[in-house]
Amino acid sequence: MKRLLCAALSALLLLTCQTAFAGRLEVDLSVDGTPVSDMLYGAFYEDINFAADGGLYAELLRNRSFENRSLTSPKSSDSFTSWMFNHLNRAEGTVTRMTEGGLNDNNTTYMRVSVESGAYRVVNFGYSTVIGRAGIPLDEGAEYGFYCFLRSADFSGRISAALTTVGGSPLSDAIELTPSGEWQKLSGVFTAKETTDAVLSLTLEGRGSVDIDMVSLLPKSAFGASWLSGGLRADLVEALRALSPRFIRFPGGCVAEGSYFKANAYNWKDTIGAPETRRENENTWGYMQSYGLGFDEYFRLCEELNAEPLPVVHASTLCQARGSQDAPYTETEKESHIQDVLDLIEYANGDETTAYGALRAKNGHPAPYNMKFIAIGNENWGDEYFYRYGEIRAAVKAKYPEIECVVAAGPVASGALIEHSLAVIRSRYPNDIADEHYYMDSGWFLRNTSRYDAYSRNGNSIFLGEFAAHEPAVGGRRPNNMYSAVCEAAYLTGIERNADLVKMCCYAPLFARNGFTQWTPNLIWFDARSVVKTPNYYAFMMFSNAVGDRYIPANADLPDTVYSSVTASDEKVYIKLVNAGNAGEDITVSLPLTDRRALVQTLSGKAGDQNSFDVPDRLKPAETYVELVGGKITVTLPAMGILVLTCEK
Ligand code: AHR
Repeated sequence: MKRLLCAALSALLLLTCQTAFAGRLEVDLSVDGTPVSDMLYGAFYEDINFAADGGLYAELLRNRSFENRSLTSPKSSDSFTSWMFNHLNRAEGTVTRMTEGGLNDNNTTYMRVSVESGAYRVVNFGYSTVIGRAGIPLDEGAEYGFYCFLRSADFSGRISAALTTVGGSPLSDAIELTPSGEWQKLSGVFTAKETTDAVLSLTLEGRGSVDIDMVSLLPKSAFGASWLSGGLRADLVEALRALSPRFIRFPGGCVAEGSYFKANAYNWKDTIGAPETRRENENTWGYMQSYGLGFDEYFRLCEELNAEPLPVVHASTLCQARGSQDAPYTETEKESHIQDVLDLIEYANGDETTAYGALRAKNGHPAPYNMKFIAIGNENWGDEYFYRYGEIRAAVKAKYPEIECVVAAGPVASGALIEHSLAVIRSRYPNDIADEHYYMDSGWFLRNTSRYDAYSRNGNSIFLGEFAAHEPAVGGRRPNNMYSAVCEAAYLTGIERNADLVKMCCYAPLFARNGFTQWTPNLIWFDARSVVKTPNYYAFMMFSNAVGDRYIPANADLPDTVYSSVTASDEKVYIKLVNAGNAGEDITVSLPLTDRRALVQTLSGKAGDQNSFDVPDRLKPAETYVELVGGKITVTLPAMGILVLTCEK
């Protein structure tokens, strides 16, 4: 019995000793440290998962211009996607898809409604996941700007627009529309009578034919509501702003290149100017882009968020990672593509005496955007890519030597492909920024925090242009859970240690509309009304908002599961601790600072925990202040947790 008691006691002691092991981190602020890039944390915005239409772009109607079509499965092309006719009504009439005599050369398809008798109703459901269900979120008292283009030679009767229920009961007052014999833009403002989901109803009561195109509904409260295309969804802009992105990479991803067809490669010239003149196209991910969020909005968003624009133009190749073949590269295609790239730079940076600078001014922004970077190619590799890259780059550098070029290093983290890419880049383009992409299992990120420690400092700087920790899929969806967030955060401690070399990094993809996804995981989820920030979002935000301009190597004795990084600016010191283990750890931090308060932010949960639309705040950073007395502080780093300590110097 005595022996048993002794054994139990020593086991208890051992256990106490194990949990009481205090990690130690000693920070010497007198060391110079290594520089940390001032552009380290940014965002990669791609129109995937309906991140633009139905997402960041504030337009509430889907397929407003009847241009919906599919290059990948032409048979399923449907110009009337998201529209319904004569729903629950008994009017007599027909609807015809028209392409002759359209609004303009870029927007050719429109709808002709011919009414025989009764009140014929044409309805747009917005972004509804279920056909026939109202998908336009209204807030009582809020205002919604409406416009459409109409034309009619013979209609006699009354035409009106209103926000209604699916059955046609009014949720706003009606706007009367009187067409003429030529295309004419008619507009008005609705005020919502209720907080509910609605449809837009155009009601034609009388006899004759009416041509309808470009029907738009935008909240007056949109961010940038005065911009040409009506602005962006304010809650999503704020979610992005909170990440403090120092740059925004755009528009892809494979969206920049197109998959399978060159016809759906992104052409920036299609995406600027009056919305009804933008030439819509299907994107890589198989759905239409209205380009209401195009290059005008992109540059303005960067300006608003104080982020450097980092546009990606394709290298006359298709999306190689999606298995597409090399696109043809004839002399004509090459020349016109190179000209497009040069024109983009002029559009961004030229003064008003240049053709594209003047066009930018006409489109609402007289001042240049002062763009500094361009990525040529998204996620490419191989000799043909590097050849085309070299030609496009040479043309850019000849005209704009100050622009920094970003060169693709392929879609994988290791192996012959990336080694070859980096070798080519180092030898041929030693001053360019090499863009690495990798999506790996979560554990890989923990095991590879020292990836960049061994990279040469005598060559290219690195842009980690796409990364995410991938967990096994459950129900077809790879989750954004606490474990993946911790693994990414641990990895970011290694990135900060190497932020003299790794100039920029961004998670991918950024946005996903629930029910409209082609890819998981994603940083920010949303539906018509709510935004769900993932633990990965919060981890990235905590890092992005607490980083100095130099990395300070610390003297550390930490448990194996704990990763750390210390950076400092002239004013502050930032200490990050990441615990991938299942036990909390007490860490004593020694800092040559005393008698002051330090901000402690923590994010933790169980490995599999996630935020959801039902419980969006399950995982969220908590904040508290601790006193720094005698140059020491002991913090409890939670199990499966991230802790950021910020202290004034
Ligand atoms: O981020 C999603 C996709 O992943 C990007 O479009 C592409 O570059 C990569 O393969």
